[in-house]
Amino acid sequence: MSRKPNVWVTRLIPEGGLELIREACEVEVWTEELPPPREVLLEKVRGRDGLLCLLTDRIDAAVMDAAGPSLKVISNLAVGYDNVDVAAATARGIPVGNTPGVLTETTADMAFALLMAAARRIVEGVDYVRAGRWRTWGPMLLLGYDVHGATLGIVGMGRIGQAVARRAAGFEMRILYFDPYCDPGKIPPGIEATCCTLEELLAEADFVSLHVPLTPETYRLINAERLAQMKPTAVLVNTSRGPVVDTEALYQALASGQIAYAALDVTDPEPLPADHKLLTLPNCLVVPHIASASWATRTRMAQMAAENLMAGLRGERLPHCVNPEVYGSQPGQSEPER
Ligand code: GLV
Repeated sequence: MSRKPNVWVTRLIPEGGLELIREACEVEVWTEELPPPREVLLEKVRGRDGLLCLLTDRIDAAVMDAAGPSLKVISNLAVGYDNVDVAAATARGIPVGNTPGVLTETTADMAFALLMAAARRIVEGVDYVRAGRWRTWGPMLLLGYDVHGATLGIVGMGRIGQAVARRAAGFEMRILYFDPYCDPGKIPPGIEATCCTLEELLAEADFVSLHVPLTPETYRLINAERLAQMKPTAVLVNTSRGPVVDTEALYQALASGQIAYAALDVTDPEPLPADHKLLTLPNCLVVPHIASASWATRTRMAQMAAENLMAGLRGERLPHCVNPEVYGSQPGQSEPER
């Protein structure tokens, strides 16, 4: 290609990624705080050679067709890629990139932070003090649940699930996990974890932490029936994708005391409207999808997304490609995972 490739970046991303792209490309960046509306996305993508997009952008066949035959690569700034119609990209021979690995530890930190905040009622405690209600030390004030020695159920023992298991081992937790592959090789060295059915895990776990990608199989995996299998003292932690949990069923389970607490980094819908009934519950803690949001990790994610983009523009294999079928390889080179 003699001219510089022309790419569109659908939001302002850390400079570490943008500078790599600017060196070699004509780049336009959507600098608004909110994602580009659908009609803008369809318009802006037209004639581009590359697209660097976010999990808030729905990249389906219509977007790929709007871009037209020049589109050589779709680089998603996330490990999850349920926002991209990968089959449609594959059918058009377009490689799709993601950012696995680099956000594993940061996301596991957040899962553990949510778990501990829920167990020890940190947010309620902060609200209590700020509201001027702290009048004395109270023997019954804000009692929560011990994390040390409790049973943790990890749903999905991929990279992030394994990183959560390592943290849990430090708290001397008993670890159960449910994973379609039940592969003992996935258990970090020196850590004891028992593979079991989802039913067993839900019945025994004091804390249930979700680490599965969003797929048709995991859509509303945690529904009314599954919530009913959990202990009334159980805490549910979700740092995967909102639709893995049935929101209405979760609301009912929390409101009726069927489970004790939910701590959510992701929700369905997302963003969760400020007047959503989940937010009226004292036993539900929600943060705005920030599990990978550390300076270092977001910078590295931006660099990885830029590296995927640049490789695609050069006609090289993406370092992290979710559809290696476009190169004639088998799927699975880059493990789908949250
Ligand atoms: C964030 O949710 C990601 O998938 O990277």
